[in-house]
Amino acid sequence: MKTKKVTIGSSEIDVALHRGANYGRSPLFWASLGEYPVYDVNAYRMMTTDRVRTSKYFNAVNKFVSGKVVLDIGTGADLNWTLASVEAGAKKVYAIEEILESYEKASAKIIDLGLEDKISLIYGKSLEVNLPEKVDVCVSEIIGTIGSSEGVCVALADARKRFMKPDAVMIPERCATKIAAVMLPDELYSSSGFDDRPFPLVGLIPMKSVEDVMNSIGYPFDCRLCISDFPQTNILSTSGVIEDLFFDKEIKSEYNFETSLEITKPGRLDGFLLWINLWVDLEGGVIDSYNQQTSWAPVYFPAFGDGVSVIAGDEIEINCEMAPSSNGVNPDYKLRGKIKTTGRDIEWKFDSFHQERRFREGHLYKKLFPLHT
Ligand SMILES: C[S@@+](CC[C@H](N)C(=O)[O-])C[C@H]1O[C@@H](n2cnc3c(N)ncnc32)[C@H](O)[C@@H]1O
Repeated sequence: MKTKKVTIGSSEIDVALHRGANYGRSPLFWASLGEYPVYDVNAYRMMTTDRVRTSKYFNAVNKFVSGKVVLDIGTGADLNWTLASVEAGAKKVYAIEEILESYEKASAKIIDLGLEDKISLIYGKSLEVNLPEKVDVCVSEIIGTIGSSEGVCVALADARKRFMKPDAVMIPERCATKIAAVMLPDELYSSSGFDDRPFPLVGLIPMKSVEDVMNSIGYPFDCRLCISDFPQTNILSTSGVIEDLFFDKEIKSEYNFETSLEITKPGRLDGFLLWINLWVDLEGGVIDSYNQQTSWAPVYFPAFGDGVSVIAGDEIEINCEMAPSSNGVNPDYKLRGKIKTTGRDIEWKFDSFHQERRFREGHLYKKLFPLHT
């Protein structure tokens, strides 16, 4: 197996390499990126050119912002919803961005466009800054590959309390995270690793996603995984919902959801696939990160080590506890449950941490990050 040496903080680790058979169309592992401050020009390009996403946001902005005072949390380098708000006739837009380089690019763009009077750009985390007035509309896209993973619950609860008028509109309105039992595609099971080539059109590199995420925290850890282009044939069960967030109601920072899945075909149960259903505006239709090509890749939870044989009719009970990690914003997820298979129940558990110093725990992470050679 080929590996690449990568420097993470003061450590050097080996990362396994995998070459996708049909690059850009066959399944690939990625580190889940959005919940770390690693947005670069390629990441913003991927989001800005994601028409499934932008068309829903542009429609919602056009519907709600005319003549209003707007807040855009996490405007990014491209100022997408801020500029759309100005175009749609907003009275004033406050835009907040926490990554310095992105803030600086956005700032230069505002000056270039001569929009300094209309847009007030603020550098920092929304939780740590103040606004001079309350707003009528709050727009944000800090929705993770798991709905809450980018810290949307803590950030929007704070925005609702400190920045918004009582009847202010929140965009987006709802995000549900779905879950199904899966068998890893053969190519990722037999050769688990990350591709080190730039992804077609957007230029992001799966291998670099691992390096960037770990370096943003400063030490090696079992980063959350995504799989792009996950084949439908490897989904073994019905789907359930493990998180359902309504942003126009009270937003809590901790949730507990229960669901159960029915196995619909026999196979080797390796783990779970999680993907989002996002309603930017409840009347505007849903964005589905598994069934549509979007900039959110589905998450893979390798919950079952070497795999468990299941047959149609088996049932999987899932309890998912979500609560902020030690940084107070981005959640950890603790899943517990039972596989109810013929004649016996198998208890299982899986934890997905944001930045815990745990490395090479479990079968798959040992394959992805083999010991130094
Ligand atoms: C997924 S990107 C979206 C960028 C842009 N709004 C768009 O949708 O095209 C999220 C952006 O929000 C920023 N961000 C996330 N949480 C934030 C917060 N609480 N305060 C300020 N910026 C935040 C990130 O740095 C990143 O630039």
